[in-house]
Amino acid sequence: MSGEVVKEMENLDIENHTEETEDIVDPWNVVSKSEKGIDYEKLIKKFGSSKIDAELIQRFEKVINKKVHHFLRRGIVFSHRDLHHILNQCESGKPFYLYTGRGPSSSSMHLGHLVPFMFCKWLQDTFNVPLVIQLTDDEKCFWRDIQMEDAQKMAYDNAKDIIAIGFDVNKTFIFSDLNYMGQCPEFYQNVIRIQRCVTFNQVKGIFGFDDSTAIGKIAFPAIQASPALSTSFPEIFGVKKFPCLIPCAIDQDPYFRMTRDVTPRIGYQKPALLHSRFLPALQGAQTKMSSSEENSTIFLTDPAKKLKNKINKHAFSGGQATVEEHREKGGNCDVDISFQYLTFFLEDDERLEQIRKDYSSGALLTGELKKILIDTITPIITKHQEARAKVTDELLKQYMTPRKLSFNF
Ligand code: TYM
Repeated sequence: MSGEVVKEMENLDIENHTEETEDIVDPWNVVSKSEKGIDYEKLIKKFGSSKIDAELIQRFEKVINKKVHHFLRRGIVFSHRDLHHILNQCESGKPFYLYTGRGPSSSSMHLGHLVPFMFCKWLQDTFNVPLVIQLTDDEKCFWRDIQMEDAQKMAYDNAKDIIAIGFDVNKTFIFSDLNYMGQCPEFYQNVIRIQRCVTFNQVKGIFGFDDSTAIGKIAFPAIQASPALSTSFPEIFGVKKFPCLIPCAIDQDPYFRMTRDVTPRIGYQKPALLHSRFLPALQGAQTKMSSSEENSTIFLTDPAKKLKNKINKHAFSGGQATVEEHREKGGNCDVDISFQYLTFFLEDDERLEQIRKDYSSGALLTGELKKILIDTITPIITKHQEARAKVTDELLKQYMTPRKLSFNF
């Protein structure tokens, strides 16, 4: 690597420890060689983010005056950048806003996508702040063989899934890049401000682009960075600059390392981040759940029967080969996908701990554990489907219209 690139990467706040880990985590690939999945401790070091430790959780609970979400308690939301600034902001009664997003590559979202969005809803309810949600239909035209019209249609379909999670219409703005870029000059102007500050060398270093990369891909990161500037939403924030907190899974961090490098140079605060782990694929923790793999993925549109079959047939088991052996040696919760999913979706801490003990001791069999998972996830998906069926085109339009939200800034 040339000295110039190394220098620029240091500017971008990246500590490059590639030799320490074999895991690959970037916006397009999540792969681990270990059947336990990604080594998140190593990833924190590699990316240069900060671990969410007991002390930070204690501070969080003091500020919000209640227990934190189980994703935080269980280390599913495990890493952050500058969360203290956001908590300081809250303590002094000053506003901030939330920003998250989705790249619409399929008409239905999957169970893994629920993770950052469910967490985001909890954050919005807890802090009573505006939320902007970017649908990067442009991104998907660059990276996938998807026509613009199809990407836009999927953006609207996905927006309905997102609305069904329960975000408050008076506090939430959802936008498709393909639309909003043409609607809002301030958004595009911020894209340009960011593009002026980032060199090809930098995006090469961060995203691995090369000389044959389409120029749309090279320019795109500035579009994902732009919502971290509150002036990209003049209807909501006017011309004022507010701090931004971005919840996402850690695959999106490269975009925001770049953003954090640029923002102080153009007169904005660095956005803060909360990183979550990945919900693994059904087949095992080596990869994340992803829309492109039908059998390793639970889609939010899967009917209850399909969901049951997928779990029974494909969920990787940490159990032993025979019932006798399992009773004797017990199962391995660290690799068992059903147990892993329960850590995300079973809210009752005590019950989860009992299941862990019973499966590890061999008292609970794989089939029984899968049944617990099916009984836990089915109502979540069914409730989601019912809520989504109620999202009309009219309601969708409300969420997606640039407008003032119920905050006076
Ligand atoms: P996308 O559509 O790949 O993913 C949407 C959100 O879901 C997270 N995610 C997962 N979380 C847990 N388990 C999984 N298996 C899993 N797969 C995906 C992603 O990290 C993301 O938070 N470029 C982005 C769209 C975007 C965005 C943003 C995301 C635009 N602006 C700001 C987060 C924050 C994308 O394609 O996400």
